[in-house]
Amino acid sequence: MKNILVIHGPNLNMLGTREPETYGSLTLAEIDKRIKALAKELGLKVEARQSNSEADIIGWIQGGAFDALVINPAAFTHTSVAIRDAILAVGKPAFEVHLSNIHKREEFRRHSYIAGVAVGQISGFGAESYMLALRAAKAHLEG
Ligand code: DQA
Repeated sequence: MKNILVIHGPNLNMLGTREPETYGSLTLAEIDKRIKALAKELGLKVEARQSNSEADIIGWIQGGAFDALVINPAAFTHTSVAIRDAILAVGKPAFEVHLSNIHKREEFRRHSYIAGVAVGQISGFGAESYMLALRAAKAHLEG
């Protein structure tokens, strides 16, 4: 069974109350529950983690104990060469996720340091973005 590591970046622990008009009203625990239910259906093993710390996220990626990475780097998307380099260093396929459509928001959100090293980016479908990424990861890994 393929292993998927899901990483949620900074401030995503506040989903549910954080700008619900932009990010929806589901909590992170509810999103993780949906991710786990879909993973079961797709025959994938999934582990979901959240951190507000760039160092934690880099450590988890370097750990490399996964076949594919589904990552919502949140604000680190727009700032972190270090997360980009960690993905390159482990050489595992990464799927970038955003709840909101980062391309129709402020100018500074339009650039992602992660997109250039990801298999692809899914942006703008709310919690469903994670589900689409999970399906994309399965298709990528299993053809
Ligand atoms: C986000 C978009 C980022 O620009 C923002 O900093 C986030 C969440 C999203 O899921 O839409 O924290 O990654």
